[in-house]
Amino acid sequence: MEAAEHLPGPSGSEPESTATRSSPASAQSDRTPPPRSGVPILDLAREYEEVGELLATATREVFSRQNFILGAQTVEFERVAALRCGVSHAVGCASGTDALWLALTACRIGAGDAVVTTPFSFFASVSSILRAGARPILADIEPETFNLDPEAVRRGLNSAGKGGARAILAVDLYGQTADWDRLHAIRQEYSAGGPAGSSMVLIEDAAQAFGARWDGRPAGSLADVSAFSFYPTKNLGAAGDAGMVTTSSEEVAERLRMLRTHGMRKRYYHDELGACSRMDTLQAAVLLAKLRFLDEWNRRRRVLASNYGSLLERAGIAERGPYPERGVVPPKVHPKAEHIFHQYVIRVRRRDELKEFLKSQEVSSEIYYPLPLHLQQALSGLGYGRGAFPESERAAREVLALPMFPQLTPAEQETVVAAVQRFLG
Ligand SMILES: Cc1ncc(COP(=O)(O)O)c(C=O)c1O
Repeated sequence: MEAAEHLPGPSGSEPESTATRSSPASAQSDRTPPPRSGVPILDLAREYEEVGELLATATREVFSRQNFILGAQTVEFERVAALRCGVSHAVGCASGTDALWLALTACRIGAGDAVVTTPFSFFASVSSILRAGARPILADIEPETFNLDPEAVRRGLNSAGKGGARAILAVDLYGQTADWDRLHAIRQEYSAGGPAGSSMVLIEDAAQAFGARWDGRPAGSLADVSAFSFYPTKNLGAAGDAGMVTTSSEEVAERLRMLRTHGMRKRYYHDELGACSRMDTLQAAVLLAKLRFLDEWNRRRRVLASNYGSLLERAGIAERGPYPERGVVPPKVHPKAEHIFHQYVIRVRRRDELKEFLKSQEVSSEIYYPLPLHLQQALSGLGYGRGAFPESERAAREVLALPMFPQLTPAEQETVVAAVQRFLG
């Protein structure tokens, strides 16, 4: 768990607060923003300054109807979100983690099935496969985009053994989609060898990528089924936990709705062991209100990313990469991808020292992710050792996310880059 993606409590173990600077309560009672010192990695209080009034109106409407679970705003959010993602169905649920489990289970992926995925992601990308009863097979990432390397996916599929793998679960990390052209081509190739009618399932973990695009098509429409997180620090964030699954399959959507309400189709008749994972109406109201701003917020993120690029160039510390030498490697955008910079992640040597130095200069930064999933204690049962995924392990040593949120100012970006430059000498 980590700041901005998941904000740690004092012990670093539990999410504590999603406000990194002033609390929403203080912003509510006093609209004057507090004096700012340093640069936060994310400042939700500033977002609240933009949307606070709208959120108040939106949530009041929910209270006036008193329909708190899967109410009218949830239905409306699902309608609008499906349109935005270019799919027929969006199904709201309780979290991004649940969305992944729902996606897998709705596609009937479970006991005995192998799923190829990445070791360089948030824990839920792999834990949800295990929770569905399936077996994760990990494949390494590309050093430039940090997304799954299709050639490594191919090797993972070849290693799956009898029956092959049932699915590929690819993550659109940091707000940039995976290479969905090559993943679809691989699916085509491997499905052709299987029994008639069987087809490998593609699952998209779009938790960090609402509004991103691949070859003009939106995240959420790039696989058979896609999972989103609306954890408060996401680029579209709820006021608590929430998630969503999108698909254009009528059958999968029907199963998703059944599974999110205890496996019920008919009230109190349970066809399968589902989950209690509905989207609160209050969360849907918040998300609906914020969705109106999302294009503009994503646009600002892209402008800020481009500004960081220019500042790093001008400071003489930008390098081409893929690996850093004496400077920093700014994020690379695939020509087919429209990155929304949920995170702005550089690669740098002596990363931990830089992070400490930035902290001493009151500049926040974060590491997504310091330990690849195959080396996590909880996943030691997968049987992968150190050295199994060199790109992921190297990325885990070199990545550093710099402050990035739509309300970040160019002056703050200058402060950040000047501090990085001072560190690098
Ligand atoms: C890539 C990825 N997958 C899944 C999740 C899980 O989402 P949630 O925290 O809403 O359960 C997250 C959220 O951090 C994520 O970043």
